Amino acid sequence: MARVAIVTGGSRGIGQSISLALQAHGMNVAANYAGNDEKARAFTDKTGIKTYKWDVGDHWACLEGVKQVEADLGPVDVLVNNAGITRDATMLKMTFEMWDEVMRVNLGGCFNMAKAVFAGMRERGFGRIVNIGSINGQAGQYGQVNYAAAKSGIHGFTKALAQEGAKFGVTVNAIAPGYIDTEMVSAVPSDVLQKIIARIPVGRLGHAEEIARTVAFLCADDGGFITGSTLSVNGGQHMY
Ligand code: CAA
Repeated sequence: MARVAIVTGGSRGIGQSISLALQAHGMNVAANYAGNDEKARAFTDKTGIKTYKWDVGDHWACLEGVKQVEADLGPVDVLVNNAGITRDATMLKMTFEMWDEVMRVNLGGCFNMAKAVFAGMRERGFGRIVNIGSINGQAGQYGQVNYAAAKSGIHGFTKALAQEGAKFGVTVNAIAPGYIDTEMVSAVPSDVLQKIIARIPVGRLGHAEEIARTVAFLCADDGGFITGSTLSVNGGQHMY
């Protein structure tokens, strides 16, 4: 039987590449999305990957959304917590709403989704959870106290849950991408972005597929001894 995977934020950006990579590895993928119905429909038409709309920051919506995926595809074996947003501003300009929204979606989303699938994975004796952190959660980033805190929280969340899942065949790992050529990064002012690229030893932005292949690696059936780890994929920008 094909493994069933949920990828949050799975119809665009890095998430889209992750959905495709898991599908290429023979999984039955459900791509969650929050906003753009038209893009999600186009993605399903093109790839055959089913898309499901809910806000990962909404606890109850996650429980309902996962129930629907399980009714359609079967029990969830693999969860990729990829959905994330930025609300960049320096501390002086950052509002509480900008802080709260990023914490709610980026970090709260990991809890909400893991809560929805963890008990079942544990009962069945198999699970793969991969949380997408960030280089900016490891190193910090000017203008991102909200995002850096949430992503840093993801790394702690990963190590704690990995300890709870280990005995039950459930691995929990994180990936810390550097700057990847997605819409999120292209929103960074171009003069700032040029300075960032100049600090990447590989000399370029990463590609979404370069993150996706590391997710597939961690989600493989024979990956049972890798848990609680953070895999940095950042072109050498931050060596941790
Ligand atoms: N270090 C030190 N000083 C910096 C700085 C830095 N990295 N970036 C900006 N500054 C300074 C500027 O030089 C400027 O100083 P002066 O006033 O003395 O000239 C001051 O801070 C204000 O800078 P801005 O004019 O840029 O201020 P702003 O309010 O218009 O914008 C900002 C601030 C929103 C933080 C903007 O600089 C920005 O968007 N920076 C990029 C943040 C970033 O990297 N986000 C990553 C998004 S992608 C992502 O998050 C994915 C991932 O996981 C990697």
